Amino acid sequence: MGSADALQVSIVGGSGYAGGELLRILLLHPRVRVRQVTSRRHAGLPVSLLHPNLRGLTDLAFVKPDEVGPCDLLFLGLPNGESMRGMDGWLARSPRIIDLGADFRLKTPEAWKTWYGTDHARPDLLGTFVYGVPELYADEIRSATRVAGPGCEAIVSILSLYPLVKTGLIKAGPVIIDAKMGSSQAGRAPSESSHHPERAGSVRSYKPTGHRHAAEIGQALAAAGVEPALHISATAIEMVRGILVTIHAFLDDPAVGEKDVWQAYRREYMGKPFVRIVKQSQGLYRYPEPKILQGTNFCEIGFEKDVRGGRLVVLGAIDNLVKGTAGNAVQCMNLMCGFPETLGLEFPGLHPV
Ligand SMILES: NC(=O)c1ccc[n+]([C@@H]2O[C@H](COP(=O)([O-])OP(=O)(O)OC[C@H]3O[C@@H](n4cnc5c(N)ncnc54)[C@H](OP(=O)(O)O)[C@@H]3O)[C@@H](O)[C@H]2O)c1
Repeated sequence: MGSADALQVSIVGGSGYAGGELLRILLLHPRVRVRQVTSRRHAGLPVSLLHPNLRGLTDLAFVKPDEVGPCDLLFLGLPNGESMRGMDGWLARSPRIIDLGADFRLKTPEAWKTWYGTDHARPDLLGTFVYGVPELYADEIRSATRVAGPGCEAIVSILSLYPLVKTGLIKAGPVIIDAKMGSSQAGRAPSESSHHPERAGSVRSYKPTGHRHAAEIGQALAAAGVEPALHISATAIEMVRGILVTIHAFLDDPAVGEKDVWQAYRREYMGKPFVRIVKQSQGLYRYPEPKILQGTNFCEIGFEKDVRGGRLVVLGAIDNLVKGTAGNAVQCMNLMCGFPETLGLEFPGLHPV
C-alpha cells in the first residue's frame, strides 16, 4: 500500500475495466497509496468482488462517488461525457486530475461537437488539460496538473505515425488505419454486441468509417507538421485485450528506403522506455502482436515497405487496457509527480499466454 509519505490517490469509476487495471497497477506501485475507489452500483462491496485478480492484495471496498474525499491525485475512469459534468467537484477534491475519458482530449468545443454530437459542458477548461502521450509531451506532462488520457486506438496510431509525419516521410496523402480491436475496449457494461453468442468468433466491422479517434490522431499529427487525410476502419475480433493497427501510408518520396524509416523511429523513440521497434528477419513474432503485450505498458511498432511502389505498411500493437489506458495514465502520473517514468510498470508480459 505504500508508506506514510506515499501519494494518496483515488479512482472514480473503479468498477470498470480501465479502473480495475489502474487498481492492479497502483496497488503494487511503491510510491502510491490507493485511498478510495468508486462504484455507484457496487458501493460497500469489496473491490476484489469485481476484480478477482486483486484478491488478497487489498481490503478496499467501493464507495459512492460523492463520498470521495481529498487526495493528491484523482483518476477518472468514467464514460465519455461524464467527467466534464462533474469536473468542478473533482477539482475541489484534488490538485491533480488524470481523466481517462474523451472529454478533455480535443482542443476546441467545435471539434467535440463534430465528433461526439453534443455541446461541451466545460469549454473553458479544454485548454487546461495536457494530452497524455508521454513519449511526445513529457515536459508538458511533468508540469501539468490536469492530463487527458488518449483513446486506446488513438495512442497506438499516433505513436506509429508521429515520427513519419515529423520527418516529412509522409505528408498530406491518405493514411488508412485498419484497427483490430479486443472486446474489453468497449468497457464492462454488457450490450447486445458483447453478448457471448454474438461476440464469440466474430470478425465484425463495426466502424468502417467515421471513427471518433481520427479527431485526436489528426490533432496530434497536425502539431507534428501536417495532418494527413486519415481514414480508420475498425473491426472487432476474437480477443479480450489488445489492439493491432495495420496502417497503410504512402511515402512522399517513393524512393525513400526502410533505412530512413528506421532512422525516423530510432531518433524519436531512443531512450523512450515503452516503445519498441520490432522488425525481425526470423522467428514467429517478427512484427508486433498484441497477444504478447497483454498486461504490459509497451507499444510495439514495426513496418515494411512494399517493393511495388511507395506504400509503407506500419504495424502497431498495445494492450488497450494498459498502454491504451491505465498503464499510460500511471506513466503520466509518474512524470507529474517526479517519480521514475517506469515505476510500477515494469511487468514484461507472459509467454506463452
Ligand atoms: N476500455 C478501454 O480499453 C479504454 C481505453 C482507453 C480509454 N478508455 C476510457 O476509460 C473510461 C472508462 O472506460 P471503461 O472501459 O473502464 O468503462 P466501464 O468498464 O464501462 O466503466 C465505467 C465506470 O464508470 C462508472 N460510472 C458510469 N457512469 C457513472 C457516473 N455517471 N458517475 C459515476 N460513475 C459512473 C461505472 O461504475 P458504476 O456504474 O457502478 O458507478 C464504472 O466503474 C472511458 O471514458 C473510456 O473511453 C477505455
